[in-house]
Amino acid sequence: MITRKLPDPVLSYLNEHLDCTVWEGKGSIPREELLRTIRDYEGLLLSAGPVNAELLEHAPSLKVVSSVSVGYNHFDIPEMRARGVIGTHTPYVLDDTVADLVLALMLSSSRRIAELDLFVKQGKWQRGSVKEEELFGMDVHHATLGIIGMGRIGEAIAKRAVHGFDMNLLYYNRSRKPETEERFGATYCSVEELLRLSDFVVLMTPLTPETTRYIRKEHFEMMKPSAFFINASRGQTVDEQALIEALRSGTIRGAGLDVFEVEPVSPDNPLLQMPNVVTLPHIGSATSRTRFDMAMLAARNLVGALTGGQAHIVPELKDLAVRS
Ligand code: DGY
Repeated sequence: MITRKLPDPVLSYLNEHLDCTVWEGKGSIPREELLRTIRDYEGLLLSAGPVNAELLEHAPSLKVVSSVSVGYNHFDIPEMRARGVIGTHTPYVLDDTVADLVLALMLSSSRRIAELDLFVKQGKWQRGSVKEEELFGMDVHHATLGIIGMGRIGEAIAKRAVHGFDMNLLYYNRSRKPETEERFGATYCSVEELLRLSDFVVLMTPLTPETTRYIRKEHFEMMKPSAFFINASRGQTVDEQALIEALRSGTIRGAGLDVFEVEPVSPDNPLLQMPNVVTLPHIGSATSRTRFDMAMLAARNLVGALTGGQAHIVPELKDLAVRS
């Protein structure tokens, strides 16, 4: 079951190897329709929506769920494990694209790109209408960047920041990475120290039970009042209300957000009214080439896992054998 339309070469590849049904409607298959039809399918390709007890109960034949995403917080790992259902994801192919977007968020929040774009388009740029200093931003180059979560995407951000912008790099990760320290001159420190010292804090942790609401009020209070908070991982890694308060009260200077606690973000979310916050609709990996590569990798994962070939199985389910 392919829950949404995919590029033609990806569908051709899938049809060559598997007997597939593709949801031809707009967007992704509605949940009720998926639950109604999934009963006899052995493979499922999707990009969102919980793979939980409800879905698995409706899918007694299911062996493999392939997600067109690197994050797999929509997989209920214990439920999948209990039923022997394997889950795959799409690492590697999006690292550079997401890293590009993180740099864009850093630059656009600190140099006020979206805010000042609107200023010009609204005809407010008139001789004598504003003092020059009112348009000033903060430098990215030579500033201190703190990355929380130094995985592959964190390293791709580090490369751009250090080699492109001469930034000073701090990082926190569950395990220390001596090679990364060597490569980027990065300094390993505690989350608290990183928050205190950084001009830009980039959160890149996957969403797990341990990282849910990982950054809270007390963490924003540790940050410099001139600092920017950037999140391109998952909205639920942050206490969003605490972030709103920190931005409102001037505890931090600004934010660049590609992700929100609830997506699509509600139109009355106060973050959308803040000129010092850049808001994007979860487009970290959204370029034509990268989304094509992700779709193809997800297709290969599905075929591989169902036919005894190679697949990027998520680490927590790697030891499971595909059900016969
Ligand atoms: C991912 O691949 O996890 C991106 O965030 C898109 O969901």
